[in-house]
Amino acid sequence: MRICVVGAGYVGLATAVMFGKLGHDVSVADIDDTRVRTVNSGKAPFYEPPLEKELARLVKAGALRATTEVVGSVAGARFVFICVQTPSMPSGRIDTRPVKRASKDIAKALARSEDFKVVVMKSTVVPGTTDSVVRPLLEKGSGKAAGTGFGLCMNPEFLQEGSALKDSMEPSRVVVGSMDKRSGDMLMRLYSPVRSEKVRTDLRTAEMIKYASNCFLATKISYANEIADMCVRFGIDSETVLKAAGMDPRIGPLFLKPGLGFGGSCLPKDVRALKDRAMADGYGSKLLSALLAINDRQPLEAIWLLEREIGSLQGKRVAVLGLAFKGGVDDIRETRAVPLVTELLAKGARVVAFDPMAMPSFIKVMPTIEYASSAQECLSGADGCIVQADWKQFGTLGRKEFSRMRSPVIVDGRRCLDPAKVERAGAKYLGIGYGRTETD
Ligand SMILES: NC(=O)c1ccc[n+]([C@@H]2O[C@H](COP(=O)([O-])OP(=O)(O)OC[C@H]3O[C@@H](n4cnc5c(N)ncnc54)[C@H](O)[C@@H]3O)[C@@H](O)[C@H]2O)c1
Repeated sequence: MRICVVGAGYVGLATAVMFGKLGHDVSVADIDDTRVRTVNSGKAPFYEPPLEKELARLVKAGALRATTEVVGSVAGARFVFICVQTPSMPSGRIDTRPVKRASKDIAKALARSEDFKVVVMKSTVVPGTTDSVVRPLLEKGSGKAAGTGFGLCMNPEFLQEGSALKDSMEPSRVVVGSMDKRSGDMLMRLYSPVRSEKVRTDLRTAEMIKYASNCFLATKISYANEIADMCVRFGIDSETVLKAAGMDPRIGPLFLKPGLGFGGSCLPKDVRALKDRAMADGYGSKLLSALLAINDRQPLEAIWLLEREIGSLQGKRVAVLGLAFKGGVDDIRETRAVPLVTELLAKGARVVAFDPMAMPSFIKVMPTIEYASSAQECLSGADGCIVQADWKQFGTLGRKEFSRMRSPVIVDGRRCLDPAKVERAGAKYLGIGYGRTETD
């Protein structure tokens, strides 16, 4: 089967590689020619090693190629997946311009084609968008009616960066929303080799499932953070509390870890978008507003912990370890490092930062702070350190690195270090939601 994926980002390339691995002939169309060249050289435009390895293999075998010719690429395909970005606008509403542009190009190809193509919306869009934005553009531009001239589906993506390919190949569920039975049946057949539970529904329910999922994850994180911040003040370790709470199957252990809050390209924007969408129908969501407010507070919590230990930050050198929105990726979209560093600078601190992969993009956003070429260099001469992203390698820091600090105080903003190990190595360990327990 020939498949066209529009958008060579995380979702587009994970989808393309998944279908390539399932034996289909895949073409990836993107308006960014640098990305297209990168993909055609067998490289991923972001740090995702397992995906890149499979991408290289498929490109070499001729089973996957990229192009800037969106219309031509769609024309040759049976299924067309829209995987373009849907970023937040300042109001919180999603910016649908990339979706509209892609839809117009797809419509041109539909106009020229004889076969019944199925257009599948994979980008995250608020309920109603596929039907009220994408469908009219496809129908107007093609002169064909959805359901008879072409098929229309909504198939939200649930992958996590850092495990993009695995999550695409073995999704927790596949949601197939369709406008008509025929296109839904076709997409179900395409997904038949994927052995995950499948949910069939209409377009707007599929759109809402994605928001219901991401907003719940964001709620869990903000809830864990709220409990953690209370625990610190009560002198209790939140890790023990949340671990035991998570043993209840109604609660579950995942996403209950305290930290600097959620970032990345999805959770913050999806929470804002659902809040905005609900408001458009006169529903003010108190829950969504609260969890965003808690999220905004978390970088300040780390700074408060540091100040409590070393006093005013005026003139102090503060090391920030990890700039990506989480460890293991190079994506800085909505990283908590931005509000963290901004607040440190506002308090008069001199900030020195390090990230194993994300520094080139972070430097463009915050060019004036100091950057180090290693975690060790970053800690040298520092009066304190805040760990912002949970890179595995930070767990190996020890006496050699901490002894270079002017005052060895570590605020673990992701609870990714072993407190006892840090203290054995001669540093003071502080963490979001960290309190000593009787057994320490
Ligand atoms: N990144 C994630 O972890 C993730 C997970 C699940 C869902 N999503 C959702 O999937 C969508 C895509 O996210 P992403 O992170 O892959 O985006 P991305 O920004 O990494 O990639 C989007 C790509 O689309 C291309 N593009 C934009 N307009 C185009 C057009 N008209 N024609 C062809 N190409 C075009 C861009 O050049 C870019 O390469 C978003 O709606 C996002 O919310 C993302």
